[in-house]
Amino acid sequence: MTDKKTILSGIQPSGAMTLGTYLGALKNWAALANEFDCYYMIVDMHAITARQTPSEFRKIQLSQLAQYISCGIDPEKNTLFIQSHVPAHAQLGWVLSCYTMFGELMRMTQFKDKSSKNEENINAGLFTYPSLMAADILLYQADYVPVGADQKQHIELTRDIVVRFNGIYGDVFKLPEPYIPKVGARIMDLQTPTNKMSKSDISDGGCLLILDSPEDIMKAFKRAVTDSETQVRYDVDNKPGVSNLMQIYSACTNKSFGEIETEFSGQGYGALKTNVGEAVVETLRPIREEALRILADKAYLEGVYKKGAEKASQTANKTLKKVHKKIGFIPSD
Ligand code: TYM
Repeated sequence: MTDKKTILSGIQPSGAMTLGTYLGALKNWAALANEFDCYYMIVDMHAITARQTPSEFRKIQLSQLAQYISCGIDPEKNTLFIQSHVPAHAQLGWVLSCYTMFGELMRMTQFKDKSSKNEENINAGLFTYPSLMAADILLYQADYVPVGADQKQHIELTRDIVVRFNGIYGDVFKLPEPYIPKVGARIMDLQTPTNKMSKSDISDGGCLLILDSPEDIMKAFKRAVTDSETQVRYDVDNKPGVSNLMQIYSACTNKSFGEIETEFSGQGYGALKTNVGEAVVETLRPIREEALRILADKAYLEGVYKKGAEKASQTANKTLKKVHKKIGFIPSD
């Protein structure tokens, strides 16, 4: 047992990870290892709410694990695992779906968004997804959940489930808090800067991947949509494209919006686009190179996720046992 607070987060292997995933979530995970007890998952069970091609799906998961590590998430200091390797997620997910209200699930923005984009596959898993996500978090009694802004609603629902469950059975679950970065929490599409950058819309150059080549990154930034003015100024409502470029630049260089406005004053958008592109290339270059190196060592990756699942199971099973007892299931051992 340690006195450290617990962190848990996960990313869906529903496609390659994007610059948005990196700046909104992954970038912040690495720094937490010394201060917290950290669990990071590859949420394969969530990803099957959309159809996956099995061979491609396996590749994406291993690549995602290699990228976690190349982003600085050291498997010796963090617990890295694949969600389906810890059956307690499915088990608690079911229990919590019985403590999540239909009306609550109907209000989830991600459900509304994904079901409207994919009308031929609005499956029950997509609908009950937030109950499984609550189980992910609560199994580890996480204090903080580092995510981008789009996941805040799911964490608020998790908190509502905790209050409801604890209200009936006593102090079973810890109340988790979202941990959302000040800059980079909502990276927008480079071609349609009013939409979130998303791995499901990678066709038109508006979405960049962590493993994209420097040439592709520069090309995407040079084509990025801005506006008809010339002034570099942060104004999300009226200048979403420029504001997004400033967010990305700020997240990569730690410069404030004021400093960025001064740096590009009188220079127009061309200079901004080139500089943001170069900052992203330099941020991602070491991550990409290291990920490709690690990915070649399948035995190492297997060792990491097996050890991770073992450690994660120990914590998760403790919580599951407690829950089963509280709700009146008869223990099997
Ligand atoms: P997912 O896989 O859609 O995204 C993974 C993480 O990346 C963040 N993110 C972004 N941040 C900023 N700008 C963007 N354009 C952007 N796109 C993605 C997301 O906010 C997220 O933090 N439901 C989750 C996965 C999940 C989970 C969990 C997360 C399952 N169980 C338990 C935390 C704890 C999801 O779909 O994330």
